[in-house]
Amino acid sequence: MGIERVSTILKMADEANTSAIAFNCLDYSMVKSVITVAEELNKPVICMLYPNDVLLHRWTEPAVFAAMVRALAKDVKVPIGLHLDHSSDFEYIVAAIRDGFSSVMYDGSALSLAENIANTREVVKVAHVLGADVEAELGQVGFADTVADQSNIDMYTKPEVVKAFHEETGCDSVAISIGSAHGFYKETPRLDIERLKAINAATDVPLVLHGGSGIPEDQLEVAFREGINKFNVGTEFFWLYYETIKQQATKEGSVLHDLPSAIQEKLREYLRTKMQLCKM
Ligand code: 13P
Repeated sequence: MGIERVSTILKMADEANTSAIAFNCLDYSMVKSVITVAEELNKPVICMLYPNDVLLHRWTEPAVFAAMVRALAKDVKVPIGLHLDHSSDFEYIVAAIRDGFSSVMYDGSALSLAENIANTREVVKVAHVLGADVEAELGQVGFADTVADQSNIDMYTKPEVVKAFHEETGCDSVAISIGSAHGFYKETPRLDIERLKAINAATDVPLVLHGGSGIPEDQLEVAFREGINKFNVGTEFFWLYYETIKQQATKEGSVLHDLPSAIQEKLREYLRTKMQLCKM
């Protein structure tokens, strides 16, 4: 089947009244595990690359990552999405699309609303010509290590702005701020479901929930029913990978070549549970 447009996957999720799950991935073991479990469970899935993992941490490069996901998705029977996560750099986004990404996020959430709209519109114009989808962000999803970010109502998405934001930018999906934050939570998050309902009632654009690690499942089930169509998870997947490396590497008789298969087995176990949340 190969790579599917993320907009198509989100439409499928919307029709099934659920959310697709998007995992931040760093390397072959993560991408391979995500795609293997998606096929095993017969569910669409999205592989995402976070630019800081390239620019700061040198895990991979956009062209290499895109080619790898495309190669691994080639003979798989479920739709696999390929997405560039958070970037606010126009040139970087365009280069990533040229490198094979068919979906990108332009994150203008730190800007004024007017600047966010103007910049998102520019990215959308170019991305659509090049055949890629654009996720935008309205409101601001902060970082969980600052408790204030997760519960700061001033950063939450305003339902009355979403429709105009979508119409003025032409974006394909909108990441919203309703009480989630990136990273490990210091306090259990409480999603503002009433706000989500109001946002979803105001617009048809697919809605994205960031900061997926550590949100209780019962809240996610409600959020997926009430309009979230893409759910981003990174931190807990990365943490599991790192813990598994540490455990395997310090095991009696452990050798380097045994690591990937042991790691992938652990990642698959986690992914099987997580992907059950997606009801497609
Ligand atoms: P977590 O790392 O908190 O799971 O969030 C992932 C995310 O939202 C990526 O955009």
